[in-house]
Amino acid sequence: MTIPVSAQPPPAEAVRDLAEEVRRDLAATPKQLQSKYLYNGLGSALFEAICHLPWYRITRAEGRLLARFAPEIVAPVGDPVTLTELGCGSGEKLAMIAEALRVRRRPVAVHLIDISPSALELSERTLGALEHVSVVGHRATYEEGLRHAARQRPARGAMLVLFLGSNIGNFDPPAAREFLDRIRASLRPGDGLLLGADLVKPEPDLMLAYDDPLGLTAAFNKNLLLRLNTELLADFDLDAFAHRAVWNADARRMEMHLVSRRAQTVRLPRAGLEVSFAEGEAIWTESSYKYDAAEMSALGEARGFRRHAQWIDPDALFALTLFLVA
Ligand code: AVJ
Repeated sequence: MTIPVSAQPPPAEAVRDLAEEVRRDLAATPKQLQSKYLYNGLGSALFEAICHLPWYRITRAEGRLLARFAPEIVAPVGDPVTLTELGCGSGEKLAMIAEALRVRRRPVAVHLIDISPSALELSERTLGALEHVSVVGHRATYEEGLRHAARQRPARGAMLVLFLGSNIGNFDPPAAREFLDRIRASLRPGDGLLLGADLVKPEPDLMLAYDDPLGLTAAFNKNLLLRLNTELLADFDLDAFAHRAVWNADARRMEMHLVSRRAQTVRLPRAGLEVSFAEGEAIWTESSYKYDAAEMSALGEARGFRRHAQWIDPDALFALTLFLVA
């Protein structure tokens, strides 16, 4: 499989948004950068590679669960089915769900939502190969994309929203609750939400997943600085920053940071910004919250969903929870 790495420069408007958010986030204490910016063409390709690492078990665990339980997952979803995936990545998981619907001999409408053009291209190709499926790609944030999909779906039938790969882990708990409220508000009775969540597990396993011996996660993290060099004409010296992964036991999240190896000043002309770093000062680039299975169910139930079923991979400690709208 080839992974397209988009060579096109981002539109001026996108660069302006990036500049504005970077200006705000690098002025904050502690310094931070939003994790959504990790996923440009190269970043999406690096994440795709991370999913193949023996230490990063989320993707394969989820794949095992889908391979086994896709028929059960789609069973309560009525025809005609609309599938909407938030953060579709390669589209392979969505294809497994769509495959399970083939036996019904009915057309399936699929909405792919991702902020990465290269991820969209890849998943459109994966899904486009299925004859019974019609695909619409939305290069958009989750919220925008969900709005588009809800507006474009047929009046009849059910929509299954997929939020997989533990993408929910990037939200802090209040944001996760708010996001589930938004999803719930865009759904109708009979619709469903399939939520993938990585579960709390021993710290050494988590550390290997987020600081792998091949250095792919370090490259994934540092690519954020490379992106700022390209898009904001910044002069980050990539060797002057180190990747750091931390398990924050109190908040129950993995954190990624980029630690300045020395005192230094970085210029970001397109953001009209000059930023100084002390030696050891870090930029916080991502949080990946971990849950336990019962907590996941409770989270959905508290936002007005009914928990229909839950499947757990006992080896990797990963859960898929299917919620329905009553
Ligand atoms: C795509 C957000 C689910 O948090 O595990 C992988 C991203 N970060 N390695 C995660 C990621 C470091 C991933 N998510």
